[in-house]
Amino acid sequence: MTEKIWLNDGWEFTEAWTEEFGRGAPCPAAASVRLPHTCRETPYDYFDESIYQMVCGYRRRLSVPADWAGKRVFLTLGAAGHRAEIYADGKRLSEHRCGYTAFTTELTDALTPGEETVLSVRVDSRESLDQPPFGHVIDYMTYGGLYREAWLEVRGPAYIADVFLMPEADPETGGGTLRSQVEVAGAPAGYTIRQTVFTCYETAEEPYLAAEDRIVASGEAEGQPPELKLDRVGLWDIDSPVRYQVKTELVVNGQTADEVVTRVGFRRAEFRADGFYLNGRRVKLTGLNRHQSWPYIGYAAPASLQRLDADILKNELGLNAVRTSHYPQSHHFIDRCDELGLLVFTEIPGWQHIGGDAWKDQAVKNTEDMVRQYRNHPSIVLWGVRINESHDDDELYRRTNAAAHALDPTRPTGGVRYLKKSSFLEDVYTYNDFSHDGKAPGCEPKKNVTPDVSRPYLISEYNGHMFPCKTFDPEEHRLEHALRHAAVLDAAAAQPDIAGTFGWCMFDYNTHRDFGSGDRICYHGVTDMFRNKKPAADVYAVRQDGAPVLSVSSTMDIGEHPAGNRGRLFLFTNGDEVRFYKGDALIRTYTHRDSPYKNLARPPIEVDDLVGDLLEAEGFAPAQARMVKDLLNHTARFGSGRLPLSLAAKAAWLMLRYRMSFGDAYDLYQKYIGNWGGDAGEYRFEAVKDGTVVKTVRKAPMTEVSLTARPSRTRLREGTTWDAALIRLAAVDQNGNVLPFYNGPVDLETEGPVEVIGPKRAMLRGGLGGTLVRTTGDTGPAALTLTLEGHAPVRLALTVEREEA
Ligand code: GAL
Repeated sequence: MTEKIWLNDGWEFTEAWTEEFGRGAPCPAAASVRLPHTCRETPYDYFDESIYQMVCGYRRRLSVPADWAGKRVFLTLGAAGHRAEIYADGKRLSEHRCGYTAFTTELTDALTPGEETVLSVRVDSRESLDQPPFGHVIDYMTYGGLYREAWLEVRGPAYIADVFLMPEADPETGGGTLRSQVEVAGAPAGYTIRQTVFTCYETAEEPYLAAEDRIVASGEAEGQPPELKLDRVGLWDIDSPVRYQVKTELVVNGQTADEVVTRVGFRRAEFRADGFYLNGRRVKLTGLNRHQSWPYIGYAAPASLQRLDADILKNELGLNAVRTSHYPQSHHFIDRCDELGLLVFTEIPGWQHIGGDAWKDQAVKNTEDMVRQYRNHPSIVLWGVRINESHDDDELYRRTNAAAHALDPTRPTGGVRYLKKSSFLEDVYTYNDFSHDGKAPGCEPKKNVTPDVSRPYLISEYNGHMFPCKTFDPEEHRLEHALRHAAVLDAAAAQPDIAGTFGWCMFDYNTHRDFGSGDRICYHGVTDMFRNKKPAADVYAVRQDGAPVLSVSSTMDIGEHPAGNRGRLFLFTNGDEVRFYKGDALIRTYTHRDSPYKNLARPPIEVDDLVGDLLEAEGFAPAQARMVKDLLNHTARFGSGRLPLSLAAKAAWLMLRYRMSFGDAYDLYQKYIGNWGGDAGEYRFEAVKDGTVVKTVRKAPMTEVSLTARPSRTRLREGTTWDAALIRLAAVDQNGNVLPFYNGPVDLETEGPVEVIGPKRAMLRGGLGGTLVRTTGDTGPAALTLTLEGHAPVRLALTVEREEA
């Protein structure tokens, strides 16, 4: 039976590889490290990408137990950025030329049972490498190191080398079928494969339990498992992603020689000309693009942070899909997508550039590795087999398409391009539509883009560089960013033949000198690098029902706007309606029908009335009150400079008919809207769901500042390796509103077996920030104390527990 041994602890690391280091020579300067590991922690911003480019070395002593005699031993590295050579006692065993896929090296012949071996890995993270994605500029940083986990597999002479499961649901009959391809090594002729399907616990945390009463199908046959039929299957779907466990056994002479357990989901996912269908039901894919980077540690994030991003996408942002731009990402992230019912479009590494023959061969190999390594994930519904935004190269893309189809006949291919009507070798035309510029329609119609309207189409990116937005940008800029996301979603929602949209992008990311805002950050996220929401995030967040959402696009501080006009004001809510009060007076109740966006279920709602019926109480005639109100509301939003003709006529009529003067208008404006030099009022917004107020937002002049710290978790685990938590920070006022221009430090201090990743002083930018805390190897109580200068400290109690592997 194959034994899996994690190999994340006990590594030594040097930034300067030498062969002596690889052979195990003393190296006092080497640091002791745990995987995932980044070859260089980076600052938050303003750093040069050359700092993580190096030829570094990792090594680990391995005591080979005597009872490994006769066994075969394999080492798998989850990822090495970007080219790795594996050595045992200085002897070179293998090489891998992709920083984003896992690779396995057989160690058997290099090991002597009962003795010790020095395993070492030379890792080259220079961007001059001749392999994807390198060769030209790239809009993201390509951090180096052994940034995913490592493990050994110790196998008997006969073992299962690979299991590919093809579960399929038949939503019409309620049944399902499981077909499989199993690869076996070292088994004598006549072996059989036995397969058993178990109902599955919902979370990966639950132990595997092969109880008899959980068996729903089983079968055994020579060479390959038989096709298994299930009369009834629970569907893997976005709202209830039911999964099953499949045990595949290699049976030699009546004995189980090896077994592999895989989690699967029975579903039917289809891209059709008129959209995407999951289990026979049309689902508009609504997703964002995700990079796999974090501040300071780059790519080297442990399982819990990988999983957290999937949770944020699904539960905080209400999305049903994600694109792993622009490379395959951690299995921990995809596993969580499987558990949550978050659909995934994953793709091969690359960015615009196509290299020479060796480079292209590697791109084809990357396609094969991606499909082989990820094809059992039910969440993956589309393979991206083109280099993101590259030009047509029919020869290359015939090869990548063929590779994906050969290794996975169950899923379609796509390939992301910015070209219209380009060579369409894939199954789905996937296009980055950057046509929306704030004025143009949200997106192009399908027929303008694809060369073949009879085949499926989806939008793989929009917005992004068209409108970068920082959490500390002016209010109007942040609102415009949100409205551009709404405009694209709204336009796509009106066009059923667009299978879905993936916005650019989930969070801000560090990038190369050729991109971004000059500080090595691309501010394209709907969240910042610590996953704090910008207003654009609320355009998506309203889609979920787990937590009430009500956010107001303005602080209601007129001085933030040119000429003291209020500008446009929007509400984002998942409630049925929002009651809007000034002081204690109800001005108006708004619903989603009051939105200018007509195709979304919960579009941003525009507040265009700050006066309501209050004028009637002044003793105005109804007609007069209406006219005054229109004038006040227009002036509040756009200023009094240039009135549209209809409003100018109303103003004239009010003067003539009701003998109102400019002075009267000024007084009313002061009273109801608030003006430069007037008293700033207090506003209250109440989101109502099913008749109950579920969330209240109060906007009033700031009188108090405090710090909030939201940990992603407080119980951390020392398991197969180190663990971490994200702490999201905000400076808020007395009503809990983020203070969007608060820039300042938060001092961080830890107790117990945890430490801060990156600087011990976190910066709030635009009132928002964050920090990461990681375990240090021990268990027990721990704490993080955060101090915003001049304020009482906030202490977060944490614990670190040991998790049995
Ligand atoms: C696309 C590219 C992304 C990102 C985005 C910014 O062209 O695929 O990686 O750079 O533009 O909008």
